[in-house]
Amino acid sequence: MLPDEQLLEAAERFGTPLYVYDAREIDAALARVRAAFGDARVFYAMKANSNFAVLRRLRAAGVGFEAVSPGELARARFLGCSGDEVIVNGPAKTPQEYALGGEIGATFVVDREEEVERVPAGARVLVRVNPALDVSTHDHLATGAPVSKFGVRLDRVAATVAAARARGLHLRGLHVHIGSAIRDASDFLAAFERLAGLASTVGELEVLDVGGGWGVDADLAGIARAAREAQAAFGARELWVEPGRYLVATSGTLLTRVVGTKETGRRFVLVDAGMTELLRPMLYGATHPVRPLWAGADAGLFDLAGPACESGDLLARDVPLPEPAVGAVLAVGQAGAYGAVMSSTYLSRSRPAEALWDGEWRLVRRRERPEDVWRAELDAETVTA
Ligand SMILES: Cc1ncc(COP(=O)(O)O)c(C=O)c1O
Repeated sequence: MLPDEQLLEAAERFGTPLYVYDAREIDAALARVRAAFGDARVFYAMKANSNFAVLRRLRAAGVGFEAVSPGELARARFLGCSGDEVIVNGPAKTPQEYALGGEIGATFVVDREEEVERVPAGARVLVRVNPALDVSTHDHLATGAPVSKFGVRLDRVAATVAAARARGLHLRGLHVHIGSAIRDASDFLAAFERLAGLASTVGELEVLDVGGGWGVDADLAGIARAAREAQAAFGARELWVEPGRYLVATSGTLLTRVVGTKETGRRFVLVDAGMTELLRPMLYGATHPVRPLWAGADAGLFDLAGPACESGDLLARDVPLPEPAVGAVLAVGQAGAYGAVMSSTYLSRSRPAEALWDGEWRLVRRRERPEDVWRAELDAETVTA
């Protein structure tokens, strides 16, 4: 996390709630990925943080993108991405995504057997495998479990691959992504072993895409070793990876100001950010480190409560703090992934500003104004479709 003075300067200059990113942390995370995975091709899962400043920085470093929505595809096209730079993924792609992905010549991930008939003729494709594994993460973050909606069942992969080849698609290889915030390399090892078990029925492949899902302190070397073994089983020339969280989580911090304090059955510090700015604690019980940006003796444990009229609107529990004064700033760490992108306009709240530190502060998304939030409603009065 950036030093206190720098964070306070940003809060002063751009206001709160504010997301700040340290560009050097993104570079460092990418360097760690490359050190562990060697010549594997890196496709950043844009869903983690699709701010153009982040995308541009990663693209300049030679990273491609994985897009899972029409909006993300539109962002990739806006940046001028094409061909091998983009993977189109998602369990329920719409005609709009097939058209947009086809236009830029992206590689499509076939997520179910019938999709072989939906992707544009001649498209490059990967077939996503559901390895039917329960992994060590929150239920909402598991994507390769027997009950997950993602991927093709192990016993239907060979038939899906054959159908793709029969339709004349350019079948590049297989894809697997078992979930998010997974720290234990053994979960990946188990998934990649199941994948490798398909080698005898599927035959040689060009590409093996092992997805992302690595927690910020995951054992990258162990995951890479397991991925290389699976790659060898298929004789695949290329290994692809799709990290989202790992590349951006630690670069980001949410800055929020103290609005007041309150004591009921618990001791609260009330702040100007909550579930509408950072949903992860409410959505999947995620925990984020919290640092007060003021000095003082420890005054006990506080729950960080946001401004929403929702009891679950808590950013953190039992945070040790010095006595909070109105206007003091708190830094909520590891908020660079699935933070700003999940912010919402619930309660007609304006989404927060975002700033990037790269030797100096740069505003990379201005704070929304109330009229940004209701503009589409006023537009509806003059537009018919
Ligand atoms: C297919 C796919 N690839 C990559 C990712 C990135 O995951 P993470 O941010 O945990 O690395 C996701 C996220 O869920 C995904 O669905």
